[in-house]
Amino acid sequence: MHRCVCPGSYDPVTNGHVDVIRRASRLFDEVIVAVLTNPAKAGTFSLDERLGMLAESLTGLDRVLVKAVPGGLLVDFCREVGACAVVKGLRSGTDFGYELPMALMNRHLSGVETVFLPGEPTLEHVSSSLVKEVAGYGGDVRGLVPDAVLPRLVARLGAVPGGPGTAGAQL
Ligand code: PNS
Repeated sequence: MHRCVCPGSYDPVTNGHVDVIRRASRLFDEVIVAVLTNPAKAGTFSLDERLGMLAESLTGLDRVLVKAVPGGLLVDFCREVGACAVVKGLRSGTDFGYELPMALMNRHLSGVETVFLPGEPTLEHVSSSLVKEVAGYGGDVRGLVPDAVLPRLVARLGAVPGGPGTAGAQL
């Protein structure tokens, strides 16, 4: 049994994430989507909301489980669940610069390898933070996030009184 972990904040999950998770499920017997809280990023959705959106967005994908990581190191979680690899998508060289030190540190700490999958080129511009910014100004983010995410994103960010998104995102 070869099991991998796809870690991230998923705040919220995007179609880029779903693409990487789907492709990881073709390479490994089981994929665990590990939902962490990144202290460097202000969260928009609660952990429960992020888990719920992921579960709905990944229905139909066999051998894919969604789990919350309450805290601690990713490598400890990998050891607990018996994962031999971390899988990450790379959209660009900037992603590589961010991901490489983490991959090397994780291998240094525990021996766990990181497998990088090239991001789908048509989704290269898609990130959780940019999607939230665009939705906050009322921009159209259809096709960038799963159907389960779109209404929640608009409800949360699309109509902030007096702020970005006052006009409301169009569905
Ligand atoms: O989606 P993100 O925010 O880019 O994901 C980053 C995340 C949460 C995967 C990363 O910060 C992480 O692995 N955090 C867990 C704590 C940890 O192990 N830190 C050391 C990383 S080398």
